[in-house]
Amino acid sequence: MTSSEIRQRFLDFFAKRGHAILPSASLVPKNDPSVLFNTAGMQPLVPYLMGRPHPLGNRLASSQKCVRTGDIEDVGDSRHLTFFEMLGNWSLGDYFKEDAIKWSYEFLTSKEEGLGLDPARLYVTVFEGDENAPRDFEAVEIWKQFVPENRIYFLPAKNNWWSAGDNGPCGPDSEMFYDPSPVPLGDMTHEQYVAADDVGDIVEIWNDVFMEFEKEHGKVIGKLGSKNIDTGSGLERVSMMVQGKSNVYEADMFAPVMSLIKEHAVNYSERNARIVADHLRTALFLIADGVTPSNKDQGYILRRIIRRAVLKMRMLVLPEGTPIGNNILDHYINFYAPVYPEILKTDIRTIFKTEEDKFQKTLISGLKEFDKQFSSGVDPFMLATTYGFPIEITEELAFERGLVIDRELFNAQMKAHQDSSRAGAAAKFKGGLADTGIKTTQLHTAHHLLLAALQKILGPEVHQRGSNITEERLRIDFNFDRKLTDEEKLAVETQVNAWIQTNHKVCRKEMPLSEAKQIGAEMEFGTKYPDIVSIYMIEDDQGQAISKEFCGGPHVEQTAGLGTFKIQKEEAVAAGVRRIKAALS
Ligand code: ALA
Repeated sequence: MTSSEIRQRFLDFFAKRGHAILPSASLVPKNDPSVLFNTAGMQPLVPYLMGRPHPLGNRLASSQKCVRTGDIEDVGDSRHLTFFEMLGNWSLGDYFKEDAIKWSYEFLTSKEEGLGLDPARLYVTVFEGDENAPRDFEAVEIWKQFVPENRIYFLPAKNNWWSAGDNGPCGPDSEMFYDPSPVPLGDMTHEQYVAADDVGDIVEIWNDVFMEFEKEHGKVIGKLGSKNIDTGSGLERVSMMVQGKSNVYEADMFAPVMSLIKEHAVNYSERNARIVADHLRTALFLIADGVTPSNKDQGYILRRIIRRAVLKMRMLVLPEGTPIGNNILDHYINFYAPVYPEILKTDIRTIFKTEEDKFQKTLISGLKEFDKQFSSGVDPFMLATTYGFPIEITEELAFERGLVIDRELFNAQMKAHQDSSRAGAAAKFKGGLADTGIKTTQLHTAHHLLLAALQKILGPEVHQRGSNITEERLRIDFNFDRKLTDEEKLAVETQVNAWIQTNHKVCRKEMPLSEAKQIGAEMEFGTKYPDIVSIYMIEDDQGQAISKEFCGGPHVEQTAGLGTFKIQKEEAVAAGVRRIKAALS
């Protein structure tokens, strides 16, 4: 069965069970600046999982394009990818655990309607329980109809609690794992099972999330209005299993690419070939969804992915004159165009080539510098920071010439370098920090009150996207997908003025970054922070935080005396991002 057939079977299976089929959304989320890419099928559905009615009903299914870069270092093993398609089905307050589990099992194992996978190779995990939700005996009881009880394992929230981030819908989940080994592993104790998962002997192929809770600032705050189901199954992984392969790169979408590389590479390495196969496919889908290489946000990720692919192609020594990159892109374009026609619209090859050429120049000047340094001692830190020369290349070249690079020294130097540039970035945070004049200082504090008021009036999912403060006014950019009504603006002003008049204390605390994140201090999207950060808190009389924000200051010591807060302007600055200018008088 090809991966295309698997995708279609999945959608047909759920359509037959009353699900409306949704097309894949773009990889770049439209109205959610809190993430760079869709990392799960549920992401475009968050508003509906939070309670908004969906126009197509309360049973949905899709195959969603996803990019996850958190695991980029694992790409090249048997199962991790930066781009993948997630097959998913959702219930918005309709069916719950019983049907979700039954259908997952049926689809995986049914020969007629599903994938015909071997039930004897299936393992299941369920949530072991904690302060947020009880041990999931209910899921176990349902699973026992299909798999032996000794193949069902309880695991903690780290494994079996799913949420897309620190805010939004979440819940305990039940994951299905499959054993692709030539000789089945059979029954395993809990410890054996955990070890098999660690080394990748068994592979997660599906996750059923029982999504009935909500998280705010990383903490579960209570139940949602309805009990939802959110499931996700990686198409590449199930294809690998159905096609009887031992790793995803042997499945049909990758196999021709791997053969092409193997055939031409002078210095073949399985891992490097897999990285090229993965990264070129990811780059292609990102470019097709409108991302171009740049130094920030989505563009920066694309740049890293293309450059890493180019570097690996160089390490594989694909002979000059073999347009192997283009051949690989061509394969993917032909393979995916029937399902994702958007990949035919953009000139992907040209965008890829332009970035490749730029990087080749860096590589060439870095190589020259390497040769120059060779006799007197290679300085990988200088090569990296001045020539943008990746450490992998320095190591590779050094290895060829019998030199050893001190990677620990390099890492320490890079860390010190990054810390100092981060401290610089943090010092620039909020703009105008050098200006400690009284007007500017007051506006800094008003700015924190404004963000807290926006979150109170518009919702906790509002976060800062940018800001700028002068002596005359403050400016804040924040994620929100429509114009504010006059009532909302008034409510925000009234709230800020009320906080000013009640006179709250403003205090600064220094703490490790991890702690600041843990207490849910507001941070600016996309900003890098040093290891020790400064947090400004504004607290009410009971010591409850009205506002807690990462900030270098300066701030007034108490809110009384700020004057009257007034919004001057509210406008759109980008899709899903609003800007408010406001002043104190
Ligand atoms: N949203 C769940 C996941 O990505 C299904 O695992």
